[in-house]
Amino acid sequence: MIENFNERYSDYLNYFNGRLEEYLKEIETQPSLLGESMKYSVMLGGKRIRPVIMYAVGQALGVEKEKITPYAIAMELIHTYSLIHDDLPEMDNDDFRRGKPSNHKVYGSGNAVLAGDGLLNTAYSVLLGECFKGSEYISAAKFICDAAGIYGMIAGQSADLLHENDKVPDENVLNYIYENKTGKLIMASAIVPSVLAGGKYYSELKEFGRRLGLLFQLTDDILDVCGEFDKLGKSIGKDKSEGKLTSVSLYGLDASKLRVDITGDDCYTILDGIDCDVTFLYGLVDFIKARLK
Ligand code: IPE
Ligand code: IPE
Ligand code: MG
Ligand code: MG
Ligand code: MG
Repeated sequence: MIENFNERYSDYLNYFNGRLEEYLKEIETQPSLLGESMKYSVMLGGKRIRPVIMYAVGQALGVEKEKITPYAIAMELIHTYSLIHDDLPEMDNDDFRRGKPSNHKVYGSGNAVLAGDGLLNTAYSVLLGECFKGSEYISAAKFICDAAGIYGMIAGQSADLLHENDKVPDENVLNYIYENKTGKLIMASAIVPSVLAGGKYYSELKEFGRRLGLLFQLTDDILDVCGEFDKLGKSIGKDKSEGKLTSVSLYGLDASKLRVDITGDDCYTILDGIDCDVTFLYGLVDFIKARLK
């Protein structure tokens, strides 16, 4: 692990959580239950890894934190909405999230659908609020919309459902699911600061984000088998019981762990080609890998 990694992660996290709380305080809905249920899931915490990626890439490229913040807030609201919907009985049927009862366990499925819808719409409102500032702000907002949408996260989630209990598991389908349901939001987190910086290291960061997303879902799938509830804050063994197509179901545990190492090395190689201070990004690769330890 790189020197000061934990300190820097906490700095990004605390800064982000402060901005997020300020933003959420402004939200008041009628009925109040709507806003309450939205805030419930967002404020449960989580690793905030997507905002952390955005701030870290931003710092490497010389983009001010203030310029990143609205995009980081929108990203985390979208991610949280995707988790609320992902946990619904009609999707993965998970009772716990971030160590607490899932949104639908507290508010019921109907309200959980609306809390997710509310977070998604709010995210777009935040993004649109930036767009009058210039063309790079518009492009960055569009990246997040596309990554979250029907050619991104939603497509991945759709394929994830469609291929439950497949008789003949297919490697290409697995790659498609990984790349979209998880990979696209993580890739967008790496790209947005580049777009805001006028496209600096765009193709390298795109490729880095793609591999990091793959690494992230690989570890998530392995942890679903080998992890602990107390550390993860979500139930274990759900992928098998729901018949999910995962790296573990397709290749087995050992081969999946090998893929983690290979994918981590791919991430390092891409970072080697970026000529600015990306030390923290090397650390992020290690941080994701270390979740398996
Ligand atoms: C969980 O994401 C869903 C996946 C994409 C694997 P995170 O592991 O980032 O969840 P939180 O935000 O830390 O709770
Ligand atoms: C979910 O993947 C990815 C999303 C878009 C939310 P998983 O279904 O594996 O995530 P967890 O394990 O429930 O967090
Ligand atoms: Mg799922
Ligand atoms: Mg799930
Ligand atoms: Mg999972």
